[in-house]
Amino acid sequence: MSEAVLEVKSFRTVVKDKHRELILVDSIDFAIGTKEVVALVGESGSGKSMTSLSIMQLLPRSVAIAGGEVRFCGTNLVGLNKRQMARVRGRRMSMIFQEPMTSLNPVLTVGTQLTEAIVRHLGASKMEAVAVAEDWIRRVGFPEPARIRN
Ligand SMILES: Nc1ncnc2c1ncn2[C@@H]1O[C@H](COP(=O)(O)OP(=O)(O)OP(=O)(O)O)[C@@H](O)[C@H]1O
Ligand SMILES: [Mg+2]
Repeated sequence: MSEAVLEVKSFRTVVKDKHRELILVDSIDFAIGTKEVVALVGESGSGKSMTSLSIMQLLPRSVAIAGGEVRFCGTNLVGLNKRQMARVRGRRMSMIFQEPMTSLNPVLTVGTQLTEAIVRHLGASKMEAVAVAEDWIRRVGFPEPARIRN
């Protein structure tokens, strides 16, 4: 295997309440190399989503990382602060969520949501972001990108 892009080692997450601690992700190990595509397979409730959300640190307040490492291009993401993690997420590492109908906010235009991510992660101006968003809309096969954006 080529050098790992993502290397997960003895990684654990737990959910806590006042009385007890339950293990959600139980000491997992895997590595993903450059241009490698990996599918995580398991029955419903086995922890596929929890594994991915834990790696990206998109966890509810009650869930905490309890140990191990998530090396992304050599950097251990476990231990990064919120601001540092926000810089990794969205630009260098992204999630395609399971429920397509809830991935976009229905009260905002598609354009607003696309350009927000482009401005935040690529440092583009609003006008540049609009052009990039329309290009992406065109590239996925929609006609009339300006209309779709609005
Ligand atoms: N916030 C939470 N508090 C307690 N338990 C949780 C929490 N979130 C998820 N779980 C539990 O963690 C386990 C793993 O759930 P997860 O959603 O990761 O499964 P999955 O493999 O993605 O399932 P599916 O194939 O249905 O998407 C489940 O038993 C679930 O109930
Ligand atoms: Mg899931």
